[in-house]
Amino acid sequence: MTKISNNGFILIVDDNPTNLSVLSEALASEGLRFRVAVDGESAIAQAERNQPDLILLDVQMPGLNGFETCRRLKANPVTQKIPIIFTTALADMDSKTKGFSLGAVDYIPKPFAQEEVIARVRVHLRLKQLNEFLEQQVRDRTAALQQAQVKLVQQEKLSTLGELIAGIGHEMNNPINFITSNIPPLEEYIGGVTEILQLYQQEYPNPTAKITTALEDWDLEFILQDMVKILDSFKLGTERIRQVSTSLRTFCRSDSDTKVPADLHQGLDSTLMILQHRLKGNGDLPGIEVIKKYGTLPEVNCYLGQMNQVFINIIANAIDALDEAINKGKMSNKIPQIQITTEINSQHWVVIRIADNGIGIPERLKQRLFEPLFTTKPVGKGTGLGLSIAHQIVVEKHKGTMEVNSQPGIGTEFKIAIPSVSTTV
Ligand SMILES: Nc1ncnc2c1ncn2[C@@H]1O[C@H](COP(=O)(O)OP(=O)(O)O)[C@@H](O)[C@H]1O
Ligand SMILES: [Mg+2]
Repeated sequence: MTKISNNGFILIVDDNPTNLSVLSEALASEGLRFRVAVDGESAIAQAERNQPDLILLDVQMPGLNGFETCRRLKANPVTQKIPIIFTTALADMDSKTKGFSLGAVDYIPKPFAQEEVIARVRVHLRLKQLNEFLEQQVRDRTAALQQAQVKLVQQEKLSTLGELIAGIGHEMNNPINFITSNIPPLEEYIGGVTEILQLYQQEYPNPTAKITTALEDWDLEFILQDMVKILDSFKLGTERIRQVSTSLRTFCRSDSDTKVPADLHQGLDSTLMILQHRLKGNGDLPGIEVIKKYGTLPEVNCYLGQMNQVFINIIANAIDALDEAINKGKMSNKIPQIQITTEINSQHWVVIRIADNGIGIPERLKQRLFEPLFTTKPVGKGTGLGLSIAHQIVVEKHKGTMEVNSQPGIGTEFKIAIPSVSTTV
């Protein structure tokens, strides 16, 4: 059954009272609402004001005739889309064609046959409804597509960035190898040179004046001791670069297609390594102590790259919360700490808790944490996306749960739980 929209009506435009009453009766007998206008000018004014669902327009009227009225209605963006049906006694082909070319959807010949009027009106009301429905659908789909596109672009950027970083991690290997593989022979040579010099000193206890001056200028004793220390720091340094390289590659592991069994501790450790520069502290900020209480975890079927994204977002937030507390002078009597606890619970879910003793979260903000774009940080620092992405990864991608516990001034704990075995066998 075709309905007229709420508040909708049909506008009848005719200068002839008989025609008006015939049309009105026909529409009223079907329960269709209508209004009337007796000339073109007032029809346009009404159409603009009240947006009828359909206009029945007489062609021959004094003043503005139907064609001209139609042309103006179609030229006006406000009334453009209202379907117009001409009512006309002009049976000749020319005026019908002219009506259609002006944008009319149909015509009804006079004298009126009631059934025909009703049938045509119903068809066009229905068409208009369908049209609007389709237009709405196109609008909805376009909006959805645009959103999907933004997401795709973001993902694409992230994956390019991920590949780049994994690439850097890999490329760092060769130069590190040059250094590490040359340290042992260098160590040996230094040992040799030291031994030879000491032998010289024993065998020739009275060197020439030139040699004595050089020995004093260079402080040979010190050099020999310090070279060993320098070598040790090379070893430490290269070992650390190697760890960073491994972390970069682990962190960026591109595994977006399938879940793979993974060691979440490795993920947590590589994340901590990447955030090391922020944990270490500097002139103004004291370092943050990281306490790891790792339980024994099975390998977990997951998208490790994405889980790392969850970890980095939560840990970076914890660091921010600690920095804020420090800057506000609220950490004077406690050591800034982040505690990471892992365990497997009785349902065989892996539970990861990341807790900080920073600024905390006021009760009224808790509900909003996982909203996209919700941030309390200044422009340029916070995007408000971290937790919403983390939530999506844990809950939608891994069928897990994510909760937050917080007390302002005491600290915050995020608890993530994900099933350790995939539900699919
Ligand atoms: N550990 C935490 N301590 C205090 N507040 C937090 C913590 N983690 C998140 N928040 C709050 O949640 C908000 C949203 O976090 P997030 O989605 O990561 O966006 P962003 O870090 O860009 O602001 C933060 O602005 C902050 O107010
Ligand atoms: Mg964040």
